[in-house]
Amino acid sequence: MAISVGIEGLGFYLPSKILTNADLEKRVETSDEWIRTRTGIRERRIAAEGENTSDLAVGAAKMALAEAKLKPTDLDLILVATMTPDMPCPATSCIVQSKLGAPQAAAMDVAAACSGFVYGLVMGQQFVASGTYRHVLVVGAEVLSRVVDWTDRSTCVLFGDGAGAAILGQTSRGQILSTYLGSDGTKADLLKVPAGGVAVPASHQSVDERGHYLKMNGTEVFKHAVRAMSDACLKAIERAGIKPEQIACVIPHQANIRIIEAVVDRARMPLEKVYLNVDRYGNMSAASTIVAFCEAVRDGRVKKGDYALLVAFGAGLTWGSCVIRW
Ligand code: UT7
Repeated sequence: MAISVGIEGLGFYLPSKILTNADLEKRVETSDEWIRTRTGIRERRIAAEGENTSDLAVGAAKMALAEAKLKPTDLDLILVATMTPDMPCPATSCIVQSKLGAPQAAAMDVAAACSGFVYGLVMGQQFVASGTYRHVLVVGAEVLSRVVDWTDRSTCVLFGDGAGAAILGQTSRGQILSTYLGSDGTKADLLKVPAGGVAVPASHQSVDERGHYLKMNGTEVFKHAVRAMSDACLKAIERAGIKPEQIACVIPHQANIRIIEAVVDRARMPLEKVYLNVDRYGNMSAASTIVAFCEAVRDGRVKKGDYALLVAFGAGLTWGSCVIRW
């Protein structure tokens, strides 16, 4: 009999420092009104100096372990989805393994930008379903505040820092019923950090050209996000063998309220079923979907027996979705 994979524990961690739209008005030529109406964002969290992606990941992981009633030494594998690793090498997951105190766990990072948590969930599911591992920690964690260009008003208002975690195991709670992943590398240029890899290694010139900061063609990304996420919603629902109206709560990647509205409109699902936190945290890339899922469960928006739909989209381009029965 196939092993069914569920969620043993959920957790999240958000830095305490809040950056409001009013604060941003003092930094760049923008307004609270523009940011709210074009994106839905009111404020975002910013990691403290010295607080790194691994620290946020450990905060989220500890909460998930406590909920699962597991010790760090129970973990068999740690997957950290991030586009803002502590450093290019080693993987942030190895740093998390050390900070958590989980020496027996294997560890690797997942590089799928904002879709990273959903990609990680699907990867972790395979290890549990095959019987290879019993407890897999999947984390989405980002410190985007250190890769955004604080002089570029078209991107710096959008992003925030945070982390969310799920522990996968052989349990019927939070059963992963269906998954769907996609990518389109021909659109890789639409959202990227151009320098710092081997194509454009760090140099005085790369720093002068601000090549280590995030660059985005917002309008193009917007269009692709709507199409890919609405299709992904329907794919996961179909694969779960249920009808769209059976979904109790939709948990989308939280990049922009207008994208979310367009996605549910195209997928013919009511906005009232969508869990939103983009107003409080902005776009936390790989952390967005999982933090929203944690909050939706905590707030009772996802109850026992409910079908929840997670859907994400990001640089790559990448996208992914899954239906979870809570
Ligand atoms: O996580 C997945 C990846 N990210 C996303 O999914 C984000 C996708 N894109 C978006 O959310 C939207 O495209 C943005 C919010 C980034 C931009 O919204 P838009 O409706 O596409 O605006 P736009 O880029 O077409 O810009 C409209 C105007 C421009 O001025 P002009 O050229 O019309 O005079 C911009 O210069 O708004 C200006 N603008 C701003 N004005 C005030 C851009 N950023 C700002 C700003 N404050 N922060």
